[in-house]
Amino acid sequence: MATLLVALTILCLVMAGIEADQKVTVSLLDSAIAKGAVCLDGTPPAYAYSPGFGDGIDNWHVILQGGGWCWDVTECLNRSKNDLGSSAKLISKVNGSVTFGGMLEANSTLNPDFYNWNVFKIFYCDGSSFMSDVEDVDPKYNLTYRGARIYDAMMDELLRIGMGNAKNALLSGGSAGGLATTLHCDKFQSLFHITTRVKCVSDSGFFIHGEHFLGADWRESFFYRVVSTHGLTNMLPTSCTSKFSPTLCLFPENLVPDIQTPLFLIESAFDAYQIGVTLFPNRSPKWTSCIHNLMSCNWTEIEIMKGFRFILINTLKSAIANSSSRRGYFVHSCYRHGHMEEISGSTCSLIVGNGLANKCIFQNIAEAVGDWYFDRSEFQEMDMVNNLPRNCTGDDLPILKKKCIDYYIHH
Ligand SMILES: *[C@@H]1O[C@H](CO)[C@@H](O)[C@H](O)[C@H]1NC(C)=O
Ligand SMILES: *[C@@H]1O[C@H](CO)[C@@H](O)[C@H](O)[C@H]1NC(C)=O
Ligand SMILES: *[C@@H]1O[C@H](CO)[C@@H](O)[C@H](O)[C@H]1NC(C)=O
Ligand SMILES: *[C@@H]1O[C@H](CO)[C@@H](O)[C@H](O)[C@H]1NC(C)=O
Ligand SMILES: *[C@@H]1O[C@H](CO)[C@@H](O)[C@H](O)[C@H]1NC(C)=O
Ligand SMILES: *[C@@H]1O[C@H](CO)[C@@H](O)[C@H](O)[C@H]1NC(C)=O
Ligand SMILES: *[C@@H]1O[C@H](CO)[C@@H](O)[C@H](O)[C@H]1NC(C)=O
Repeated sequence: MATLLVALTILCLVMAGIEADQKVTVSLLDSAIAKGAVCLDGTPPAYAYSPGFGDGIDNWHVILQGGGWCWDVTECLNRSKNDLGSSAKLISKVNGSVTFGGMLEANSTLNPDFYNWNVFKIFYCDGSSFMSDVEDVDPKYNLTYRGARIYDAMMDELLRIGMGNAKNALLSGGSAGGLATTLHCDKFQSLFHITTRVKCVSDSGFFIHGEHFLGADWRESFFYRVVSTHGLTNMLPTSCTSKFSPTLCLFPENLVPDIQTPLFLIESAFDAYQIGVTLFPNRSPKWTSCIHNLMSCNWTEIEIMKGFRFILINTLKSAIANSSSRRGYFVHSCYRHGHMEEISGSTCSLIVGNGLANKCIFQNIAEAVGDWYFDRSEFQEMDMVNNLPRNCTGDDLPILKKKCIDYYIHH
């Protein structure tokens, strides 16, 4: 299991680009203590808030931080001793402030649609995608499982500071925070007046079951253990648990169809977390080297990644097709995990073909989400041209452009 953490850490390091800076103070929500809404280690939950300005003053972007899950007491105990389980550890780790990048950044050039919004980031310290609510403190290890209470206490605080009057509101999150967004989206929507535009964006939060694909047993037993460790059986949406087991109700494919609020999914068809961690939980050195350097993958390994893409795309399409309300999505082929909080991710692009005109049009994630959020278009696009993982830290756009043109000339 330790190897998984190492893999995650490496992924995080690879993704943490060097971006333009905007420091925002990390604050503790002390009022949460009386509600028992505390982190695994008992410290109050933390947030970072950057007020809106100009005509963004009544617009609110709320972000649920991600960072995996703990799936047994040992892992949760471990987590309670670091920044993903303890606000005290978080504050000392980041030295009191964090940077808002990508679609959180107050820069109108880089982030034209959301730059002047109120931005409120909720830190993750419960290990359950903000879903747990166990009354008793674990007697042996002194751990508290209260993620859902943290979510509620943060919503109370947001309403107290004015979010109830929002014209526009957006709930988003990446990875485990993307799953949390999917799980909380309708509850978030219910906080507002009928006239408020409320939408949700799940960024790299579409963790597939892939029931007949490599690692399926592991993925299932992993979520089974998350559910039992955090007591989630009765916390998950009944619209799902009336049809599926609680374990299956952590897989977004079984949640997305029932969500009533407009929801946008940002996903890499070659999601680096799902490919890197969930296909071969006990992976060989060969596969380890492949997932860290695509150039070192052999064709067998590339075929496995292509197989994963095929299943992810089909699972996502069927979840969308079964949804009662409209969905937006942006599925690209860059090998990565997480997009909205970094320029390297929010500018990650897709070439959208216009078959009739044999034209290839660039679109990046920030533009696509903005267009969809403000109803300028209902964005539903996948990269169907590339069935190989792209390393988008290098500049392969010219190659992609050429492929796109060839594709639309020949189809
Ligand atoms: C506990 O977390 C540390 C990093 O904070 C990690 O190095 C270690 O492997 C973890 N232990 C277990 C049992 O996962
Ligand atoms: C348990 O955690 C609480 C904080 O939630 C702390 O005040 C208390 O001292 C801890 N108890 C033990 C036995 O470690
Ligand atoms: C932490 O932040 C304080 C100011 O808030 C600064 O004086 C100090 O140098 C910082 N420490 C480190 C290690 O960055
Ligand atoms: C916004 O970002 C652009 C591109 O990185 C940069 O040139 C500009 O200085 C930034 N503006 C502000 C106000 O930071
Ligand atoms: C390709 O990689 C897989 C493991 O990831 C390995 O089992 C297989 O032997 C490799 N094939 C060749 C030809 O090196
Ligand atoms: C992507 O390319 C960069 C720069 O060449 C390299 O450092 C990085 O390891 C590559 N990533 C993968 C997953 O291949
Ligand atoms: C979508 O509906 C079809 C039949 O209408 C069903 O076979 C499929 O399992 C459903 N997919 C999901 C993700 O619910």
